[in-house]
Amino acid sequence: MKGVILAGGVGSRLTPLTEITNKHLLPVGKEPMIWHPVRQLVGAGIAEILVVTSTHHMGSVVQSLGSGKRFGCEFTYRVQEEAGGIAHALALAAAFSAGEPIVVLLGDNVFEYSIRPHVDDFRRQQNGARVLLKEVGDPERFGVAALDEKVIVSIEEKPARPRTNYAVVGCYMYDARVFEIIGRTAKSARGEYEITTVNNIYIADRQLEYGFVKGRWTDAGTFESFMEASRLLLELNNQIRT
Ligand code: DAU
Repeated sequence: MKGVILAGGVGSRLTPLTEITNKHLLPVGKEPMIWHPVRQLVGAGIAEILVVTSTHHMGSVVQSLGSGKRFGCEFTYRVQEEAGGIAHALALAAAFSAGEPIVVLLGDNVFEYSIRPHVDDFRRQQNGARVLLKEVGDPERFGVAALDEKVIVSIEEKPARPRTNYAVVGCYMYDARVFEIIGRTAKSARGEYEITTVNNIYIADRQLEYGFVKGRWTDAGTFESFMEASRLLLELNNQIRT
């Protein structure tokens, strides 16, 4: 199992903070934001990690993370030249994954508890994909899952009228088919290759499993959620509960 951290994008919702640096290098608690997904993957027993980020900030990201020695892992880096969406960034992991299953974390997601139990469930799953859900008060900001008899029947990206309160959080687990599936998707109305389109193809193939996130979770992409992420990690001293 290999890990992928997606830290590209422009971080426009955090302007002007993101005019001079990458969102994922902003401090959350006592550490740069991107250290959290690294600690999550290492805590889940994943030691080979690809980091995808934009051309502008690759230098600073490498300066912050280094080889991986201080975290107990080994980093590979790839540049996403334009912010073409999450699935577009993930496509850059094809050669790195070399046919192995992958755990993908969005670089701006913060979890109170270790994702390890979910990764272990995926290790047992053998093939297909796995997503994590969290009940939230503002589902219209996220990918939202509709469930029927405990099966995810569809995911809608930022729906105006969400069918449930279950946000699909930024932790995705895929078998090697994911790259062929991304290749089949088209840009959405907002001009991005959406991870939600990819997940809906796994649903159509009846190959999408899920689990529920334990404890607190937030993204850090808006000023409010960024402050929430910072408060959470400060309280945890940037450690992850197991
Ligand atoms: O946080 C969970 C949500 O993340 C999901 O519920 C949504 O389904 C998913 O689309 C995503 O929504 P956001 O609108 O919050 O995504 P955002 O554009 O902020 O990107 C999240 C991370 O993905 C960002 O921190 C870095 C990475 N990314 C994003 C884009 C657009 C890239 O690496 N490259 C990109 O081109």
